[in-house]
Amino acid sequence: MASMTKINRSATWKALEEHFEEMGQSHMRDMFERDPKRFEKFSLKLNDILFDYSKNIIDSRTMEHLHRLADDCDIEQWINKMFDGEPINNTENRAVLHTALRNREGLPVLVDGEDVMPAICEEQKRVKKLAEAIRTRSWRGYYNQPITDVVNIGIGGSHLGPLMVTEALSPYSLHDLNIHYVSNVDENHINDTLEHLNPATTFFIIASKSFTTQDTMVNAETARQWHINKVGNDEHIDKHFSAVSSNVEAAKEFGIDEDNIFQMWDWVGGRYSLWSAISLPIVIAIGEENFDELLQGAYEADLHFKNAPLEENIPVNMALLGIWYNNFFDAQSTVVLPYDQHLHKFPAYLQQADMESNGKAVDRQGDVVDYTTGPVLFGEIGIAAQHAFFQLLHQGTKLVPADILAPISNFHCIARHHRALMSNVFAQAEALMKGKTEQEAYAELKGEGLDEKAIKALLPNKIFPGNRPTSTFLFNSLSPATLGSLIALYEHKIFVQGIIWNINSFDQWGVELGKQLASGILQELNDDVMTSSHDSSTNGLINYYKEQRTINKGEST
Ligand code: F6P
Repeated sequence: MASMTKINRSATWKALEEHFEEMGQSHMRDMFERDPKRFEKFSLKLNDILFDYSKNIIDSRTMEHLHRLADDCDIEQWINKMFDGEPINNTENRAVLHTALRNREGLPVLVDGEDVMPAICEEQKRVKKLAEAIRTRSWRGYYNQPITDVVNIGIGGSHLGPLMVTEALSPYSLHDLNIHYVSNVDENHINDTLEHLNPATTFFIIASKSFTTQDTMVNAETARQWHINKVGNDEHIDKHFSAVSSNVEAAKEFGIDEDNIFQMWDWVGGRYSLWSAISLPIVIAIGEENFDELLQGAYEADLHFKNAPLEENIPVNMALLGIWYNNFFDAQSTVVLPYDQHLHKFPAYLQQADMESNGKAVDRQGDVVDYTTGPVLFGEIGIAAQHAFFQLLHQGTKLVPADILAPISNFHCIARHHRALMSNVFAQAEALMKGKTEQEAYAELKGEGLDEKAIKALLPNKIFPGNRPTSTFLFNSLSPATLGSLIALYEHKIFVQGIIWNINSFDQWGVELGKQLASGILQELNDDVMTSSHDSSTNGLINYYKEQRTINKGEST
């Protein structure tokens, strides 16, 4: 495709539309019956990760069309542009180099002619040094006691990535060192966290790329006051506070010792930053070696993404399947279902990664797109979701393509638990694909001894349409390397979709308006004067709040 041709005007897109007319009528049940080799045809491997995408409404022609689409969009060139540090974040004129942070071979990566690898390595060394000091108990607080609790204060990318990884790799963590995460400016979050902590053994990380995010700054100030109040002075901040930021000056001004400030760069997007010094709480939790494994896993996924042909490229295929449902089946959402308790924060993490990246309606040329872009992503631990929203997935009116992730072995691997878990993985994917026909449902009810009248009444409810797509990732166990690979695969999927939709996946202007308005409204909340500067709903809500808070007298500053 010539780069200025809108993607939905291209011949390949038209061919996909025509192909959809045909495929939209097909049922996967029949496709599996016709082709016993579907699993072999539509599954790929990366190290211990098996990606089975055969339970999708596709055939070989679908994939050929989709690969052509990727090719039309010069995916391979875009991949190189990203890895080579070209400023592909066009609205901010920035490179996008989270891949450099896990560039395990250390080969030079140039930004504006300067190799960024030495600075990355240096910062990683500093992070590991501090983490090791805390882990080995050589880092001492103001009473010369070792640290028992680390509190990471951050939000969005400065929170969700580290939180998700710490939870996912909890079996690899030191168990007598607690890592807490505070993100919400709601005082309950920090108060509930600090309530049980001893200031003499608590270490804070203020994680904020910008060091201006309101939620984080308010929480950071509360943490500092808590520390000062308990200690009785501010002389020991250096033993109890660190910061990770690209705004080093602001962190210094906040009072953090320069030796405890870790640098990140403008070419690391917040939601892609868990590989940077934002990983400090992760490294404290799991240690240097496990963190290196996490990076190695991501690096191997990077190599796969760069080198595998489109047809065998897992993130490219993940992305294309998403496009197929989003743009041709008109699916509005996608669901992520980990069947691993330790991945319970993975959907929340992916929500930011995906929706903040691809929730855009303006293309790279500044035109409003006339096709749909990023889907609504949601998710939950698979087993919990089965008893919550699977009803809609099986019998609702919406098509919700699902990703299922499951480990072949669990950490302790108690057969009774794990086999019960895995039986659900296989059963749900099969049920979503196959459904239950009217004949099958009828035979079942008949077998249960129901009379014809009762069968007639119940039958429609017992039918499952099936043909609901799932892609399944099976991996040996949730090791640091496997987790690193999985995260990187999803990052690259998001990137490929952004390229095909011709949007910039690396800015986030859509979060600004709310922030701007909140800062104006905050001024208005500082007095009791009734406001009239907004619409009637906003005025009404603000004024009601002001009246009630006076009556409740429930606020302290
Ligand atoms: O408001 C959205 C956002 O800018 C995210 O992109 C980012 O991850 C988060 O806020 C936190 O930003 P910071 O790390 O600068 O505090």
